[in-house]
Amino acid sequence: MEQGSFRFVAISELHDRAAFTGGHAEIDNYFQGEGLTRDLQQFMAKCYVAETVTHEIGGFFTLSMAVLPLDKLSKSKRKSYGRYGDVPAALLGRMGVNTPFQRQGLGSSMVVEAIEVVRNGTITAPILIVDAKSESLIEFYTQFGFQRLDESPDPPIRMWRMVGAGGEENEVKG
Ligand SMILES: CC(C)(COP(=O)(O)OP(=O)(O)OC[C@H]1O[C@@H](n2cnc3c(N)ncnc32)[C@H](O)[C@@H]1OP(=O)(O)O)[C@@H](O)C(=O)NCCC(=O)NCCS
Repeated sequence: MEQGSFRFVAISELHDRAAFTGGHAEIDNYFQGEGLTRDLQQFMAKCYVAETVTHEIGGFFTLSMAVLPLDKLSKSKRKSYGRYGDVPAALLGRMGVNTPFQRQGLGSSMVVEAIEVVRNGTITAPILIVDAKSESLIEFYTQFGFQRLDESPDPPIRMWRMVGAGGEENEVKG
């Protein structure tokens, strides 16, 4: 998919991870260093970047497999999803936009792209999970139909949305 001057591709050696900084120390360290390297080597996560034509990184996100315990869902959702026991899910594990490109819509495009990847990838999942790292990010993800999974007062706050039909129900319409 393309977003303005960016296109989404799997991360590769063409990308200079050290040049990325999104202003969140934990996420920057993960992306620049061993954290992401290990996740890729161990097939724990796939990483996608929004790149310019010169392979400059506008932003990145990772997707991993996860499981949503059935008892976390409402009764009606349990009935609809429970035939495999706990519910297979994808985890939007880390996400960051390079500081010069923040607040220009790229982060929003990355959430939409992550949903598309889970919908149309080779492995599918009915649910996408994200851990909002701060209170203000809860608002960010709510725009895309994510809702809180736990009532835990402290971040990270786990949120979820359906990937298929119905997932948009909670989106905040602008
Ligand atoms: C969070 C992040 C990915 C958002 O990317 P972005 O490209 O700046 O976001 P967008 O331009 O698509 O934002 C669209 C809207 O979402 C909301 N929003 C964006 N960032 C937000 C934030 N940090 N907190 C609350 N709301 C936010 C705003 O309403 C914004 O619209 P506005 O700019 O007109 O006010 C980016 O700020 C980032 O990389 N932050 C550091 C790393 C991080 O926190 N990652 C997420 C961990 S859960």
